[in-house]
Amino acid sequence: MVRKVILDCDPGHDDAMALLMAIASEEIDLLAITTSAGNQLPQKTFENARKLLALAKREDIPVAAGAAKPLRRELIIADDVHGESGLDGADLPIPTTSKLSISANDLIAEILKESTEKVTLIATGPLTNIAIFILSHPELKEKIELISFMGGACFGGNMTPEAEFNIYVDPEAADIVMQSGVPLAMFGLDVTLKAQLFDTDIKEIREIGNDVAKTMADLLDFFNLTTTVPFWADNQHVEGIHMHDPCAVAFVIDPTIFTTYLMHVEVETSNTLALGSTVVDYDNVFKKDKNVAVSFDLDLQKFRKLTMDTMKFFDN
Ligand code: BDR
Ligand code: CA
Repeated sequence: MVRKVILDCDPGHDDAMALLMAIASEEIDLLAITTSAGNQLPQKTFENARKLLALAKREDIPVAAGAAKPLRRELIIADDVHGESGLDGADLPIPTTSKLSISANDLIAEILKESTEKVTLIATGPLTNIAIFILSHPELKEKIELISFMGGACFGGNMTPEAEFNIYVDPEAADIVMQSGVPLAMFGLDVTLKAQLFDTDIKEIREIGNDVAKTMADLLDFFNLTTTVPFWADNQHVEGIHMHDPCAVAFVIDPTIFTTYLMHVEVETSNTLALGSTVVDYDNVFKKDKNVAVSFDLDLQKFRKLTMDTMKFFDN
């Protein structure tokens, strides 16, 4: 079944793979891309999304910029991971189409209003735009099939000991999404740290030889430099690059790649040690509504194949 999808992203190296995966899949009809501030400043993530569409020769897909900053906090960016441009490491083509002036919020609303089918939202950055949409258009919530998002963690963060980057950047937005009543699927660090590609995979991607694959290999080589290795790793340990964001797309394409469990999840929004963490009621202690399908594991071989198929899809 082909799903109608809007991708909200902050490219971002792993966002780039997520975006290309959505374009390449026969299971996804990618209606639009909206961009969030996150990995880099909002004007950079917007331009990066446009450049990626130029690379994929799909500039017919509309791109709209979202909020310039989180709902209530100052923006924190991840230039230590994604570089000065947000997509350091590769030369990307200059977009040939003019920029749309419609906002992310208006574009999402327009598409959902007009769609006769429900639309799936995939979010791979901070959840600011999705929260704004939910708050401003509650009447359209029922048109959302699912929000599949990369963010959070049940066990251990990457921004603080508890919090993952996307949720930490805009915890209030994440809280609104979590309490929205819309079906949610969460791809947090518990699973995305297992979605690894290794040097041999990057080499294989480069050897596919089309422009998209060669550019993606350049991006992944850069991403490799900023990949963190777990504290417990010994000399023998080889840590791959973490394909966080493609997990949220891969689930929409083929849910059998992942195991998920319905659980109650809340976001810590007060300025405590745990700010921005997703509190996942792993053991159903609170006995509250199970609002999120949380993923902990994936079939890495299937995921890897989907990634390679994505790269092979693009001809020169
Ligand atoms: C998330 O943070 C960003 O840097 C990545 O693009 C991903 O969405 C991982 O914590
Ligand atoms: Ca991202």
